[in-house]
Amino acid sequence: MDYETPQFFRVMQYANAATGDVIDMVSGNPDWQPPASLRDGLHDYADADPPEFQYPASEGLAPLREEIAARRGVPVDQVVVTCGAGEANHLAMTEGLAQHSGNEVILADPVYPYYAGRTNLLGGEAQYVPVDDAGRLDPEAVRAVASEDTALIVVNSPNNPTGAVYPGDTIRELVAIAEEHDALLVSDEVYDHFDYTGEFESALSVESEHRVVTNSFSKSMAITGFRVGYGIYPDRLVDRVRTRHMLTNLTVSRPAQQAVYRALRETPPDYYAENRRHLEARIDAFTTALDAAGAEYSMPEGGFYVMARFEGFPGTMANVERLIDEAGVAGMPGEAFGERRADWFRFALVTPRAEEAAERLADYFA
Ligand SMILES: Cc1ncc(COP(=O)(O)O)c(C=O)c1O
Repeated sequence: MDYETPQFFRVMQYANAATGDVIDMVSGNPDWQPPASLRDGLHDYADADPPEFQYPASEGLAPLREEIAARRGVPVDQVVVTCGAGEANHLAMTEGLAQHSGNEVILADPVYPYYAGRTNLLGGEAQYVPVDDAGRLDPEAVRAVASEDTALIVVNSPNNPTGAVYPGDTIRELVAIAEEHDALLVSDEVYDHFDYTGEFESALSVESEHRVVTNSFSKSMAITGFRVGYGIYPDRLVDRVRTRHMLTNLTVSRPAQQAVYRALRETPPDYYAENRRHLEARIDAFTTALDAAGAEYSMPEGGFYVMARFEGFPGTMANVERLIDEAGVAGMPGEAFGERRADWFRFALVTPRAEEAAERLADYFA
């Protein structure tokens, strides 16, 4: 699979060019409202004095970093505010490869394609560990491929695309494996607010110089366009990460940070709980309608993606295009995420038309 050409954009372009009505289940852009206080923060910022329109500190606005550190129970020096979890992952992977002797990167299959693309870009060598039928990663399978050549283990829970939430034991074992092989575990927790099991455990629960936790407000506050995220880096890496971030970006947009800071302080837990409930109901309606399509699917434990497969109709790009043209539903081809679920499709449940989409699929496969 060519991970350097984002398949996501290819599918979006194809869907946008289609003549019929197409339900977009490709993007990971939430369709619900951001917290009200985020809008208040933006309004107030418009009236701020000129000094507040200038560069913020490179590693992020101090109050925002302090708020994140307090909430996550980590020293503020370990927090770097980044352009989304995307940059936080990039910094972690770049430093992981630079600071360790090996160049192997252990990734789950199916994989979030940006980890794979970044591994290629950075000259790393990807080693894929297939997940089980429930989408879980078996730490023993990871241990079996780990060696002195391993620089990084990159995981994501709740997972895109499978919807799996890794048990705490798995996360702890993965950190231990990184320690045993002098490697770095990168735990991307960007969907942590969308855990339907109540069992999600952050890798922050393990104190270690061998783990990085990345996260962002893109999904939790429905603001993928703001580009505010963060990484929590161990002391041995954080200075280099800060330097690399400064030399690449200088810093992150100040109005976006300011609005996120306000929203972080003022948003009640209900906002997140309500979005979770809303998504659970949507997942339920979508999967019930998928039953009528005779599809096999994975019930997500977290996040907002559902993977499904239809007998005799594998998840290729050609079939994605057929579904766009003939069923009016745009999803992602399973093959874009690796081999383990190449037969499947991934549908993003960030549209109010999710149930209608499943009904279209049911009609199509009837
Ligand atoms: C697993 C995963 N990590 C990172 C990102 C990017 O997040 P951000 O917008 O914070 O850069 C996404 C976006 O879909 C994602 O699914």
